[in-house]
Amino acid sequence: MSQPVPADLAELASAVAQEAGELLLARRGRVAVVRTKSSPTDVVTEMDHAAEKLIRDRLLAARPADAVLGEEGGQTGAGPVRWIVDPLDGTVNYLYELPGWAVSVAAEVGGVIVAGAVCVPSQRSTFTATLGAGAWLESAWEGSPRRLACNSGVAMGDALVATGFGYPSGQRAEQGQVVAAVLPRVRDIRRAGAAAVDLCSVAAGRVDAYYEQGTHYWDIAAGGLIAREAGAMTGGLRGDEAGEAMTLAADPALFAELRDLLASLDADRLPAG
Ligand code: IPD
Repeated sequence: MSQPVPADLAELASAVAQEAGELLLARRGRVAVVRTKSSPTDVVTEMDHAAEKLIRDRLLAARPADAVLGEEGGQTGAGPVRWIVDPLDGTVNYLYELPGWAVSVAAEVGGVIVAGAVCVPSQRSTFTATLGAGAWLESAWEGSPRRLACNSGVAMGDALVATGFGYPSGQRAEQGQVVAAVLPRVRDIRRAGAAAVDLCSVAAGRVDAYYEQGTHYWDIAAGGLIAREAGAMTGGLRGDEAGEAMTLAADPALFAELRDLLASLDADRLPAG
């Protein structure tokens, strides 16, 4: 079988994410919560499931041999490409009809994310990236796709920093202590409510940095590539890759400053209890 072409995978990711985004947009405002996850406020709606089903159906119709890892349905298949899917990142935003929610679809080949798309329907925007070929924004408000570059040369004291919080209260108490120590040292904090959108905001220069403890692979797979392809560095605090312990993204110089600050605060420690 021929090697998958990352640009083709990005195109498919983008088309599928946009179709799921349209489905979610059409049904917002009248959705039912079907279960909770890590805490009573960590909800899954019927639309998380409907969007993931659509995404799985479309991906497998186009590429039947591939594997899919989805937030709701887990892993299926074992093909040459593994699709990493968050059908609805920022579910609470969606439930409350706030704008910052997204569909995230990434393609992983040999353990490496090579293509990804994040569709943010409320912004009429789709962010895409292909490994080594840059990050791009397609927006209904701009005539043609625009190549993205993250902000650079921003000192920590001038940085607008996005972050997020988990749902379990013990984790939140610790995240609250960390953000209380970060806030006096930066321009300001933003809490938009979806990791995929925050990473795209780093790529687009809408914030200077993003950090969060407790993200899942599907939250950051596509957005992480988009941020890196826009010139940001992503990772944890101890030379590790971005992941559940910590996801930090910023231009390399700011990344280093924030990494040192967050490491001094043990911001990647496991929550007590
Ligand atoms: C996440 C949560 C969390 C936020 C993360 C999101 P999900 O979305 O809303 O509070 O801080 O950045 O990814 O998984 O609940 O849809």
